[in-house]
Amino acid sequence: MERKLDDLLFALMQNMTIAVSGEKLARDLGVSHSMLVRWIDKLRDAKVEIRGELFTGYRLTRIPDVVLPQLLRPRLRSSRLGKTFYHFYSVDSTNAFAMRLLSHGRSVPDGTLILAEAQTAGRGRMGRTWHSEPEAGLYLSLVLRPDISPTFAALITLGCAVALHNAVERQTGLHADIKWPNDLLVDGKKVAGILAEIQADLDRIHVLVVGVGLNVNHGALPQDLAERATSLKLVSGHPHSRLDILLDFLEQFEALIDRFHAEGPEVIVAEWTRHSSFAFGRRVQIVDGSRTVEGVTKGLNPFGALRVETQEGQIQELYSGEVRNWE
Ligand code: BTN
Repeated sequence: MERKLDDLLFALMQNMTIAVSGEKLARDLGVSHSMLVRWIDKLRDAKVEIRGELFTGYRLTRIPDVVLPQLLRPRLRSSRLGKTFYHFYSVDSTNAFAMRLLSHGRSVPDGTLILAEAQTAGRGRMGRTWHSEPEAGLYLSLVLRPDISPTFAALITLGCAVALHNAVERQTGLHADIKWPNDLLVDGKKVAGILAEIQADLDRIHVLVVGVGLNVNHGALPQDLAERATSLKLVSGHPHSRLDILLDFLEQFEALIDRFHAEGPEVIVAEWTRHSSFAFGRRVQIVDGSRTVEGVTKGLNPFGALRVETQEGQIQELYSGEVRNWE
């Protein structure tokens, strides 16, 4: 269904200046006129503005910012990430969809990308929700099958944060910071988060689903988020291409995973440390479940855990958690 909507939208995008008759559209897409009308309604539900002109046909009234596979594929510079692509106008959660695909025993190759223009139940870390306004952000999940031990899983998600950081900086010119473990901050506020879900046995990862939410073109954020979160557009004052950021991110992430396999985990530790002001010398309070650790950050260990020196002079190593207060 979603693929048909993509085909219809792509056809409309190629005829922006003139209206295309419903008859021609239906013929080109190989469907009945009544089915076409239903698809047009579905696109309208997804906030695509289509004017239906009596006698002349259909026309888009503005170019929608939709990450169509037809636009992504010819520009994809990565060879695994994004090769298999599921595109949704709306889905509950791209991570949840990835998990459903996997549990249905479908073949899901390494690098499969699932992207939604909007999510109705976007999931955040610590059981939170992820605000997923249509077209404004990038909401995606990557299914990865790295041939490594689960002890390195955290490093892959740190690598994801590095790739996202680099793509955002290169494509927007903004300065970004990585807040441990993998939040992206711009101007001291959160613009992106990563939610990783893993299926593994003791010595091998079967699959790692890495979900990324990036606030790109939100004109405003809900009041309860606005104090801590922002979007790239809100900071820079103008919109940014979600497709350009996505393509750059996929290329950078794949290159980093390849370097990790070729050169070892220290590659990701070094890159993360280079781009995060949280790596060294930050006074932090970190909450990890029922455990709270306070102290000064002392870099990452080889598996990606954050080393924190407490007041008593002890080094605590944290693999997960949330930085609550920092200086
Ligand atoms: C966080 O809380 O910082 C992590 C947020 C991760 C959100 C993304 S949006 C795409 C993917 N699908 C989800 O349901 N969540 C992740």
